[in-house]
Amino acid sequence: MKLAVVGTGYVGLVTGTCFAETGNQVTCVDIDINKVERLRNGEIPIYEPGLDVLFDRNVAEGRLTFTTSLQEGIKDAEVIFLALPTPPGEDGSADLKYILGVANDLGPILESYAVIIDKSTVPVGTAEKVHAAIAKNAKVDFDVISNPEFLREGVAVEDFMKPDRVVIGTTSEKAQKVMEKLYAPLVRQGNPIIFMDERSAEMTKYAANSFLALKITFMNEIANLCEKVGANVDDIRRGIGTDSRIGKRFLFAGIGYGGSCFPKDVQALAKTSEDYGYDFRTLKSVMAVNDDQKKKLIPVVKEYFDGDLKDKTIAVWGLAFKPYTDDIREAPALENIQALLDAGAKVTVYDPEAMDNVKRLIPGITYCHTAYAALDDADALMIFTEWPQFRTPDFEKMGKLLKEKVIFDGRNLYELDQMRDNGFTYYSIGREA
Ligand code: UGA
Repeated sequence: MKLAVVGTGYVGLVTGTCFAETGNQVTCVDIDINKVERLRNGEIPIYEPGLDVLFDRNVAEGRLTFTTSLQEGIKDAEVIFLALPTPPGEDGSADLKYILGVANDLGPILESYAVIIDKSTVPVGTAEKVHAAIAKNAKVDFDVISNPEFLREGVAVEDFMKPDRVVIGTTSEKAQKVMEKLYAPLVRQGNPIIFMDERSAEMTKYAANSFLALKITFMNEIANLCEKVGANVDDIRRGIGTDSRIGKRFLFAGIGYGGSCFPKDVQALAKTSEDYGYDFRTLKSVMAVNDDQKKKLIPVVKEYFDGDLKDKTIAVWGLAFKPYTDDIREAPALENIQALLDAGAKVTVYDPEAMDNVKRLIPGITYCHTAYAALDDADALMIFTEWPQFRTPDFEKMGKLLKEKVIFDGRNLYELDQMRDNGFTYYSIGREA
């Protein structure tokens, strides 16, 4: 099949590359000329494990090409993905200007039937708006459908190639057939393609992310209560996660969820609810609890140092909102570093991938080449991302480098008895200090 992918951000690039890998001819379109040049030179602008191998192969074999021209990109394409940004506006609702801009441009240049797919996370009713924008000037038949993406950063290629399910929102039989053909290589193990109407597909995406954010937030509150009643949240997680109705995943308590998706989507769904006159109370609680959760450790650090962080150096491990990514959007680490600086502390940091992104935002802190270098002469360590290399460190070395053997861990990386045996004072989430 011939495909066009408009927008070479995270979702667009993964979608284009993976569909080239399944044998399609894919042209990626982006208005950013520098980005297109870099992609043509084999440079991938994001860090995503495994993407480079597929990217290189498909570029080399001529199935993956790049252009700045929408007209050239969509020529003869049977399927056109719109993978454009939908940044939150000031009121929290998703801003559709990029998607509707491209939809307006598409109408007059469509030459034959195409399925146009909203791949970005867009509010309920967007497929209808995109359809109307294209229809104004279209000379040929077309369908606009919703096909939300459920990939996680860091494991995006795997999630794309082996999806739990594919959700397709369209009532057009013609579009359904095209989608069945396109996704056939990805659902061979029996994972379903679930067809529904456009609005329900759009809603499914928000419901999925909001439910996962709710699940994490619920565990964060259980953790907060565990600290008070003297229980261990790890045991609670094991105790309830084994109930198949609850499930094991996304039950890890911590310093709050971040990233470009959960915060934005929970906020956008809350806004949609408001627009439709529905008071979605659980969503409001999720947002409020997560905001507090992100700030949870700072008072603990302050109390440990008798309220005074001036002249203290705090080492920070982990800046990205989760491991295997350099993405720092809504990352709990940033807010915490700022709070440390505001309290007069010095900060030394290490993250395997995300330091360059933070350097642009927060000057005045020391960026180190290794995790251990960040500890040298620091008064304490705070942990915000569960990178695997932080999981089994050399505790003896850490103890020698740190001025005080104290760790404030927002990701519960270590066992309590392990820390006691190694002589550390250890604060984590939902477990005794
Ligand atoms: C999320 C969804 O998981 C994807 O299905 C979805 O496609 C994507 O958003 C999107 O809408 O594009 P992502 O934001 O990449 O993916 O990351 P997650 O792995 O879901 O983690 C989100 C946040 O939750 C992270 O800050 C992570 O540390 C936190 N988290 C996750 C927890 O605190 N506890 C957990 O048990 C799991």
